[in-house]
Amino acid sequence: MSLPKHIHDAIYEYFKHMDGWCTEERACEMAERILETKAKIIVDVGVYAGRSTIGMGFAARELRDSTVYGIDPWKVDSAVEGDDVEANARWWRENSNLEHMHQRTMECIWAHRLDQWVTIIRNGSQYVHQLFPVIDFINIDGCHTEIASCRDVELYLPRLRQHHFLSFDDCDWDSTQKALRMVEEQCDLIKVMSGANEARIYRKR
Ligand SMILES: C[S@@+](CC[C@H](N)C(=O)[O-])C[C@H]1O[C@@H](n2cnc3c(N)ncnc32)[C@H](O)[C@@H]1O
Repeated sequence: MSLPKHIHDAIYEYFKHMDGWCTEERACEMAERILETKAKIIVDVGVYAGRSTIGMGFAARELRDSTVYGIDPWKVDSAVEGDDVEANARWWRENSNLEHMHQRTMECIWAHRLDQWVTIIRNGSQYVHQLFPVIDFINIDGCHTEIASCRDVELYLPRLRQHHFLSFDDCDWDSTQKALRMVEEQCDLIKVMSGANEARIYRKR
């Protein structure tokens, strides 16, 4: 199934004005997989300024009765949890302005009238996994330290339906390698997207 042109164009148009890291290519790929599997319960771990969440929200709206749950505490302490790379930790402390990014995300959801299809949960992923007994599509892009990325896989992968898709960003970071090995024990690699950071799509066996 190919992505409807209006979703493709919306992602490319609106991302020009948004902060964050999810590329247009990656957002289109995720939207396409959501449509392909008619995913109803869609989880985005790590929202930041909303790029991944909004892109997935366009796909949820197309499906009409699907919902994206965007999970992010927007707290510096969470963003640097277990981070032993001083430059990363410093960036989150000094440059990220997470309060503002939360506000920007909400404004974007409202501006695109996505309220019906996108719900934001402002808390750490480790505290809300129990809300999702079953997940139809997940993007794991929260805190990238080993402790946090492994915990996200441990808590959320068991909830993903068999044969459904998982997207994972920053696959070329040392700190995400252990989490990726855990993913690969249960999932097949479907697609690799290179760019500033490597992103991958997996399908659960
Ligand atoms: C790489 S950014 C996400 C980028 C985003 N997906 C995009 O499209 O640009 C990582 C985000 O994870 C969030 N985060 C940190 N700890 C988290 C946790 N325990 N649960 C969920 N999100 C977390 C940070 O606040 C930050 O906004």
